[in-house]
Amino acid sequence: MTQTKTATTRNEDNRRAIPNGTPDISREQLIENLNQDLAREYQAIIAYVVYSQTIKGAAYMAIAAELEKHAQQELGHALLIAKQIDYLGGVPTVQPKPVQMSQDAEDMLALDLENENETIRNYRSRIRQCESLGEFAMAEHIRTILVNEQEHQIDLATALGREVPQLAPLP
Ligand SMILES: [Fe+2]
Ligand SMILES: [Fe+2]
Repeated sequence: MTQTKTATTRNEDNRRAIPNGTPDISREQLIENLNQDLAREYQAIIAYVVYSQTIKGAAYMAIAAELEKHAQQELGHALLIAKQIDYLGGVPTVQPKPVQMSQDAEDMLALDLENENETIRNYRSRIRQCESLGEFAMAEHIRTILVNEQEHQIDLATALGREVPQLAPLP
C-alpha cells in the first residue's frame, strides 16, 4: 500500500518517474554532465578568489569587490550541484577544471567572461536534460544558478566595456 511505503521506496519511485516520451539522456549521463558543471564551479571559485585579490589598478577596484561576491555565489552553486549529484546516486568530483592565471586586469576579466559564457551554455542545456528526465525540481534549482551566472556575465561584460555576448546553444 502506498501509505505504508518507506521514504526510501517513495524516493526510488520518484527517481524512476519520467514524463511521456524518450529522455534525451540517461541518468548516468546527467550525473557525468553535472560533474562537469561542478568542476566548472570549482574553477570559478578559484579564479574569483585569486583574481579579486590580485587585480590591480584604480579603475578595477569596483569590479574587484564584485568578483569577491561572485566567489561566494560560486560556492553556493557548487554545493547545490553536488547535492543534485548525490541525489541522483552519483559521487561529486573533487577535480576543478584548470584555472588560467594572468597579471593583466583586462585578461583576468576576459578569462572570467569566457568561463561564464561556457557555464551559461552548459546550464541552459542541463535544464532541458533535467526536464526530459522528469527532474523538474532539479531544473528549477539550475535555473536559479543560471540567473546568477547571467548576472556575472553582465558584470564582466560591462566592466570590459563589451556587449553581453549572444551565445549559440550547445550542439
Ligand atoms: Fe556558478
Ligand atoms: Fe558565475
